[in-house]
Amino acid sequence: MEALRIALLGGGTVGSAFYGLVQERLADFHALGFSPRFLGVLVRDPSRPRPIPQELLRLEPPDLREADVVVEALGGVEAPLRLVLPALEAGIPLITANKALLAEAWEALRPYAEEGLIYHEASVMAGTPALSFLETLRGSRLLELHGILNGTTLYILQGMEGGQSYGEALLEAQRLGYAEADPTLDVAGIDAAHKLTLLARLLVDPGFPFSAVETQGITRLTPEHIQEARARGERVRLLASLYGKGGRWRAEVAPRRLPQDHSLARARGNALLVRAHPLGEVFVTGPGAGGEATASGLLADLFRLLQGAPGHLPVPQAQPPLAEGSPFPEVG
Ligand SMILES: NC(=O)c1ccc[n+]([C@@H]2O[C@H](COP(=O)([O-])OP(=O)(O)OC[C@H]3O[C@@H](n4cnc5c(N)ncnc54)[C@H](OP(=O)(O)O)[C@@H]3O)[C@@H](O)[C@H]2O)c1
Repeated sequence: MEALRIALLGGGTVGSAFYGLVQERLADFHALGFSPRFLGVLVRDPSRPRPIPQELLRLEPPDLREADVVVEALGGVEAPLRLVLPALEAGIPLITANKALLAEAWEALRPYAEEGLIYHEASVMAGTPALSFLETLRGSRLLELHGILNGTTLYILQGMEGGQSYGEALLEAQRLGYAEADPTLDVAGIDAAHKLTLLARLLVDPGFPFSAVETQGITRLTPEHIQEARARGERVRLLASLYGKGGRWRAEVAPRRLPQDHSLARARGNALLVRAHPLGEVFVTGPGAGGEATASGLLADLFRLLQGAPGHLPVPQAQPPLAEGSPFPEVG
């Protein structure tokens, strides 16, 4: 049995669930010939209750160069980047759920992603297949992609459909722990834009910049917008869309109107709809957040690594769009 030394950065919602899932799945590690051992779990406040043994908690990261794999579940950009770069330079693979890090620090991370050292299934739609789903689509050419990639805004929009104002729905999302105390990343569409950037790099352009995503959130939506859409037999969803226009790829996050019986409008979780040539239309839906759902994506990546497969490689070269896409109508 080979030892597998895991350095875990972050022991919050996702990191704690990942720690628990590894313990639960020891038999599967053993079947692959590995015995996992945590070198340490980086946190800010070791006195916070969490389901990780106290002796593993670290205020300073363990020496990442002693790890066989680094699992990052800290959040943010600068702090994780500073920590993971030396490990990547030393050839140690990184598994991360952090879409902000990948979207915003791509210049530094891209060479390691192209080497196959970065695994990030959990960064888009948590454990629901999004990146592996799109990898399979590489046998076809993308025509257009539309996704509901942020659960907080979906929850708020569903609350508004039930008659709440934006503020009431947001407060309830915060009370239930779906929205952060500072919900800006979600409600301004930035989180969905981060994820759309990662999908674009996987399928259409390895250098797709985060700044190229035109981003609108849901903060200006009123109950009237939602009710007017409803009267027309439509639902409003914050959609992340990638489509061809004028021979270039356009990436947009915006509230859009969908027929109420459309698969995207009916989805209760995150969802991704893709049209590709010659494959046709494909749709996937499932949980896009939550500790265990996200840990499931991290663990899938760890098994992928242990079975010898590379991380999520960006598309080797930019692919011009084959056709003009047809985005759903915007609200207002
Ligand atoms: N939550 C989800 O549903 C979800 C879904 C998909 C992806 N993600 C991504 O997963 C990552 C983690 O999210 P989360 O919800 O688990 O966040 P979280 O609950 O806030 O956990 C973050 C953890 O990192 C630690 N930490 C943060 N900054 C640190 C620093 N500078 N130094 C040392 N420790 C630090 C925190 O320590 P303390 O515990 O001591 O505060 C905490 O343990 C993020 O990138 C997020 O976007 C989350």
